[in-house]
Amino acid sequence: MKRRTFLKGLAAGSALAVASQTVLTSTASADDDDIIHHLQNRANPSTLEKKHVPAIEAPSKVQKDVWFDVKIKVGYLIEHPSKFNHWIQNIELLVDNYDVAETEFETGGVCGPYATFRIKLSENAVLKARAKCNLHGEWESDPVNITVA
Ligand SMILES: [Fe+2]
Repeated sequence: MKRRTFLKGLAAGSALAVASQTVLTSTASADDDDIIHHLQNRANPSTLEKKHVPAIEAPSKVQKDVWFDVKIKVGYLIEHPSKFNHWIQNIELLVDNYDVAETEFETGGVCGPYATFRIKLSENAVLKARAKCNLHGEWESDPVNITVA
């Protein structure tokens, strides 16, 4: 979701979120740029899924318009490698399918596969996370429902 579309969504009363991370530019790309991978079978995940599907840690209930942290780790069962030739290039946070925050890691082997975004919500929302590996493409988390009290 592009910034202009998201801003239109805000004007319509959807969730408000602000990223607390710096956005950088990356020049690397994976072969399958157009595919977003998901966990196929929670009872029997593949090794790739264990290492690439992001996990979201956030409170299930929050107060209206009060900041809270959303922590994202990649992958949800096994920490993704961070090496000079194999690393997570970016981590995105989606609120009600709007891409509201993103952090990018320009080189491998320096930053771990984690991101924390501080956001606030004005109404119930569904969070998702996406992460892109330089070798294995883009992966999306399961949705997480947040209730606003
Ligand atoms: Fe990978």
